[in-house]
Amino acid sequence: MRAYDDLTYGDRIAEFYDDLYGDVGEDTVSLLEELSAGGDALELGIGTGRVALPLAARSVSVTGIDASPAMVEKLRAKPGGDRIPVVMGSFAEIPMDQAFDLIFVVFNTFFALSTQEEQIACFRSVAAHLNDHGHFLVEVFVPDLTRFEDHQAVRLIELRDDGVRLDAAEHDIVNQQVSSQHVMISQEGVRLFPVKLRYAWPSELDLMAKLAGLTLKERWGSWQREPLTRDSTKHISIYGKAHDT
Ligand SMILES: C[S@@+](CC[C@H](N)C(=O)[O-])C[C@H]1O[C@@H](n2cnc3c(N)ncnc32)[C@H](O)[C@@H]1O
Repeated sequence: MRAYDDLTYGDRIAEFYDDLYGDVGEDTVSLLEELSAGGDALELGIGTGRVALPLAARSVSVTGIDASPAMVEKLRAKPGGDRIPVVMGSFAEIPMDQAFDLIFVVFNTFFALSTQEEQIACFRSVAAHLNDHGHFLVEVFVPDLTRFEDHQAVRLIELRDDGVRLDAAEHDIVNQQVSSQHVMISQEGVRLFPVKLRYAWPSELDLMAKLAGLTLKERWGSWQREPLTRDSTKHISIYGKAHDT
């Protein structure tokens, strides 16, 4: 997928995003509220505000960054969406001059940074924008390479009476990148939603954090704070400044 940049995912999926992914759970919002500790929160890749809006409804002061005007337009159209400050740009380098008590990036969005260099830059930028006792929360999948055969995978996501959703993916094991097309087939035709991700193992994320002067404070396998095990499909990792014990 050569013609893919920071805007591609959001601009292509914005119209369908909320219908596809629905609301976030109470546990997600409660944990983020707790970590913000009454201070300021920043969401990297705020999108349509699926997480930021319920958090703001609990009186947390939330700011967002996003690259996609189409996603932010969806946020703006929702009740309260016009009151959330959003900076347009890439969160690889946070383009702001402000420090936060909580910076968070959920729903695998950190992996949208498609090189290791950008991911390290993001950790460094987060460290530079975090208050001394602030938290950086990352929610990403645990890579599962068993799903690829011959460096490819095709998966059924949803089968309905009126259509089908599939995921067709190609794996570049050297660069830890997965390029995929989320395919929606219905009576109206075929729609394609491209996604390009660079995955990292939990240990690689911890190393990036260390390079940025951050250290792992908590790691769970779910928003319900279950332990991360070999069967966990995702993890929620919370980092803080290394000196802050
Ligand atoms: C999967 S959506 C998640 C949106 C929201 N956080 C949620 O959970 O619903 C990823 C979002 O990150 C944005 N995004 C992807 N790469 C980005 C980048 N490099 N800089 C800023 N935003 C980016 C996309 O435009 C999209 O809105």
